[in-house]
Amino acid sequence: MRSFWLLPLLSLPSALSNSATEQIVFSNGYHPIDQSVVKNVVDQFLSDAKKAILKGKKNMQNWIHDGREYIKQNDLLYELVSHPAFGSHQLRLTEPTLCDPSVKQYSGYLDTQEDKHLFFWFFESRNSPKDAPLIMWLNGGPGCSSSTGLLFELGPCRISDEGRNTTVNPHSWNTHANIIFLDQPVEVGYSYSSSGNSVDTSPVAGKDVYAFLELFFVRFPEYSSLPFHIAAESYGGTYAPNIANVIYKQNKELSLATSGSSQLKIINLASVVLANGLTNPYVQMGSIADWACEGPYAVYDDPSGPQCEALRTKIPTCQRLINSCYSFNSRLTCVPALLYCNSQLFGPLMQLGLNPYDVRRKCDRAKDGELCYREMDHVATWMNDGKNKAFSRQGDGAHNSALLLPDLINDGVRLLVYAGNADMMCNFIGNERWVEQLDTKFYDEFVAAQSIPWITIEGGVLAGTVRSAGRGGFGAGNVTFVTVHEAGHMVPYDQPEAALDLITRWILDSPLSLD
Ligand SMILES: *[C@@H]1O[C@H](CO)[C@@H](O)[C@H](O)[C@H]1NC(C)=O
Ligand SMILES: *[C@@H]1O[C@H](CO)[C@@H](O)[C@H](O)[C@H]1NC(C)=O
Repeated sequence: MRSFWLLPLLSLPSALSNSATEQIVFSNGYHPIDQSVVKNVVDQFLSDAKKAILKGKKNMQNWIHDGREYIKQNDLLYELVSHPAFGSHQLRLTEPTLCDPSVKQYSGYLDTQEDKHLFFWFFESRNSPKDAPLIMWLNGGPGCSSSTGLLFELGPCRISDEGRNTTVNPHSWNTHANIIFLDQPVEVGYSYSSSGNSVDTSPVAGKDVYAFLELFFVRFPEYSSLPFHIAAESYGGTYAPNIANVIYKQNKELSLATSGSSQLKIINLASVVLANGLTNPYVQMGSIADWACEGPYAVYDDPSGPQCEALRTKIPTCQRLINSCYSFNSRLTCVPALLYCNSQLFGPLMQLGLNPYDVRRKCDRAKDGELCYREMDHVATWMNDGKNKAFSRQGDGAHNSALLLPDLINDGVRLLVYAGNADMMCNFIGNERWVEQLDTKFYDEFVAAQSIPWITIEGGVLAGTVRSAGRGGFGAGNVTFVTVHEAGHMVPYDQPEAALDLITRWILDSPLSLD
């Protein structure tokens, strides 16, 4: 089941592992990941933090120097950062030189009293880091590490040589931004919990991310006043709105508190960026037949043929179940909704021999790996299957996270939703629809807005289309939807130059419609 770590949609609860529905979905047989390849990657990259911490617990030294606290675990030196407002959290920092030695880097863990340890890796901007905005990137999952984004998509380096080496990525998002890759929630990627504590639902994870940011800004105040953007892919479309909401509410409280009475910093939340996300399952599940039968990469030849008809007949039941999850939020309503929609809608689509994250590609899982990307297996090491299960047991993926966004947007936080048009898992049609339905003060303007060409600045390439509301065309918009052409679920992987153009213009708030 770990093949579906990019999305919880297909990770059915283990309790039902013998049910007939799972037989339908998983009957085409997945093969275990080649452990020797995986091991190479581990040896290469896991050599720092986690290994030392897990093995080195008995062998520690602690001291204070220049007002800073340090700890030595095995041969690794960490600086410890704490904050009076977060007595139960601390940051453990190192300064690695891997991946992009040309820029300043910090990595390490957020430790919590409940023995959770969230791994992060920060890279300074390659250009004017003092003024460049700050992005936090979260991959989807659950069970999917931000290291996928780092090493495959938008990070300063990419894995090469089957995981034995890396190459510099010239289109890294740290070209014009400072960027933090955070593995959250706990037990995702490098993050770990030795007591087996796990965070089951997105809102809980938001509090840890907030603590992380505050601690990070205590230690690195130089980044705290920069515009802050939270960007997330895939299932991140569910937890980024939750995290943004926690930040927004804390900011409100802080601004009401008598000045100086709090030691917390207001976080300069500028935008939320959702990449091929799952945010409003009701609307998005409802779009599956339209995408599969009539989209630019339709997988069935005949839009009124029996397969398309069958797919369409399942949608009302799927939506009715999701509706009861929305109305009566409990495992009893939300888990069945996920189960039904996954097996009945995605089930048949998974039998087609296509890569569900990019249907332009075929997928033979025996050859291409469980995830349909051969290279992805090299990073699969960081994934932790356990997490997948905890999330879908709660039915977390069936909630409408879009509801968390309007307050923020009406108060000046911008929203960018983009989607590669060849992705079947979180297709662009459903993403555009939920954005169109967002009940904000930009609603009328967005509904009336046309999709217009988006052309990259450097290459002059028609990379997709953009539809936008707010700022009257003088900025990148307050609510903006972008379709990326010739791209699947992981846009920066398929279209690195276009993705860099998009994020750079977005964070600099410069119109995407101009060329
Ligand atoms: C890693 O890749 C670089 C070029 O990107 C190359 O110069 C170097 O020799 C490689 N290292 C190994 C161990 O293969
Ligand atoms: C739109 O976004 C800008 C930031 O680019 C913000 O200053 C402005 O207040 C937002 N517009 C509205 C009407 O909220």
